[in-house]
Amino acid sequence: MLVRVPQLLAPEQVAEMRALMVKADWVDGRATAGAQSGQAKHNLQIAEHSPAVRALGDVILSALGRNELFTSAALPLRVFPPLFNRYDGGMAFGSHIDNAIRFVKTAGAPLRVRTDLSATLFLTEPAAYDGGELVIEDTFGAKTIKLAAGEMILYPASSRHHVTPVTRGSRIASFFWVQSMVREDEARRHLFELDTAIQALRRDQGDSAEVLRLTGLYHNLLRRWADA
Ligand code: NI
Repeated sequence: MLVRVPQLLAPEQVAEMRALMVKADWVDGRATAGAQSGQAKHNLQIAEHSPAVRALGDVILSALGRNELFTSAALPLRVFPPLFNRYDGGMAFGSHIDNAIRFVKTAGAPLRVRTDLSATLFLTEPAAYDGGELVIEDTFGAKTIKLAAGEMILYPASSRHHVTPVTRGSRIASFFWVQSMVREDEARRHLFELDTAIQALRRDQGDSAEVLRLTGLYHNLLRRWADA
């Protein structure tokens, strides 16, 4: 399931983040890649454990916490602290699958995050660069994604994907992963469909007896499928 989250960040938030990024320490993107993806990855990213990344990431994490569409679609258990990349002219990221497990540095033992969903949050307006499309190879074929600044795409981390070469300008984005309470993409999709329908019914008819029954069904399916 691919879910586009429009306006995760307001234009002012994007502008503030972009201003902070100008001063950040950009390093080779292979720093966080696995053995296979490292071969295909040609971009820059802000040093993973720098204070800038923490400050920028916190803006995104709090926006995610308030976003109902993200919560309904991802049913997040853990979110990997957001990272930031930049593709200048000629840079690209060839076809790969993201690592299944990511480790988050903590004061104690590292925290493991199983990457159920991948997220890309676009931070450059599409008119400012050519190329730099995210191409997700789904069972239905390839989907080409290029969104407005502040918009995010959520996609199954199990899918092969690549970023086409940037041929003009520069493309900045944030990327991160989500471990969902519901591991299977298919089960997550059923819950998302049901939740979306229930929300629309509630707007139309309030808390009717049918809405209550469907809400109960939603929670009972979630109880069945979720690991919290
Ligand atoms: Ni990737």
